[in-house]
Amino acid sequence: MKNTNIYILAIESSCDDTSCSILKNNCVLSNVTSSQAIHEKYGGVVPELASRDHQKNILVTVKAALNQAKINLSDLTAIAVTQGPGLLGSLLVGISFAKSLALSLKLPIITVNHMQGHILAHLIDDEQSLKPAFPFLCLTVSGGHTQLIEVKSPLKYEIIGTTIDDAVGEAFDKAAKILGLPYPGGPLIDKHAQAGDPYRFKFSNAKTEGYNFSFSGIKTSFLYFIQNNQKTNANFIEENLSDICASYQQHLVSTLLAQSVNVIKDRKIIDFAIAGGVSANSLLRKKVQELEQTLLIKTYIPKFEYCTDNAAMIGVVAYYKYLEQDFAPIDFVPVTRMESFN
Ligand code: KG4
Ligand code: ZN
Repeated sequence: MKNTNIYILAIESSCDDTSCSILKNNCVLSNVTSSQAIHEKYGGVVPELASRDHQKNILVTVKAALNQAKINLSDLTAIAVTQGPGLLGSLLVGISFAKSLALSLKLPIITVNHMQGHILAHLIDDEQSLKPAFPFLCLTVSGGHTQLIEVKSPLKYEIIGTTIDDAVGEAFDKAAKILGLPYPGGPLIDKHAQAGDPYRFKFSNAKTEGYNFSFSGIKTSFLYFIQNNQKTNANFIEENLSDICASYQQHLVSTLLAQSVNVIKDRKIIDFAIAGGVSANSLLRKKVQELEQTLLIKTYIPKFEYCTDNAAMIGVVAYYKYLEQDFAPIDFVPVTRMESFN
């Protein structure tokens, strides 16, 4: 098997992006994503609308990925698909499609944990980026997760810290909603923060034990902060939007950094990576990179295209599972919540 190339078609449909990627081993030949703008006006993903849009987009996305990679269905070695965590209806679209394809082509099917995908995006074979060495620490930050994970090998993980309530992506998105910004608000808070003063407004941290995080308290105190200020100034948001976004972003990023630094010091970590949608945040990227100088460690920041949901990251996990011949039975089902990686 060593000298044989493995061609994987990977599908990701866990939330509101329909994505398909073709990989030759852990090298990405194509990575095509159809995003759903329909949720913007609702302030969050509407599950029923998301699954309907996946149905509309999946065939064209898969065809586009095959065309861009210049690969025929007959060249494929395996089909990979996100099993969870995610929205049931959304996952079902990708899984049903992947199962049908695997059955008709008589190919093995590989199930992938979406969060593992975010982490292993760092192992995509890309000549421009350096890969972290094992074991490395990964801060995984998305709309549904906030975790500090020690990655011991491609398929072996230890969760060191996790959020006890909301994910940091949710804290970004809920605050954006309070400010009247459309979904997903994280990138917009980031954008408005560029022109703001990050130290003008102060927010206090919720107490957590060990290496865990908590973000539900900050959401509520942000709401009260806005409401109280609006009592004396109806235009408080409009007049201070940049400073509000910059201060709030500074608070969330410093919380993420503080816990990461605790683990890095305690476990004598040398390689530190960030992953998931929130790793696209410009302040987080800058602050993590600064740790190279202050802590004398190596940091790994994903390319923007691999921060948010995409199928290439699902394909790279599948590549490592293929090497272990770790295939799923055809009757596997979606799993909406996945707390561990085993
Ligand atoms: O990984 P992802 O695409 O989907 C999930 O698996 O949840 O992450 C989406 C999250 C959203 O909460 C979105 O607001 C956040 O990532 N996000 C950002 C930025 N870009 C995306 N948050 C802060 N700053 C950004 N630049
Ligand atoms: Zn994700």
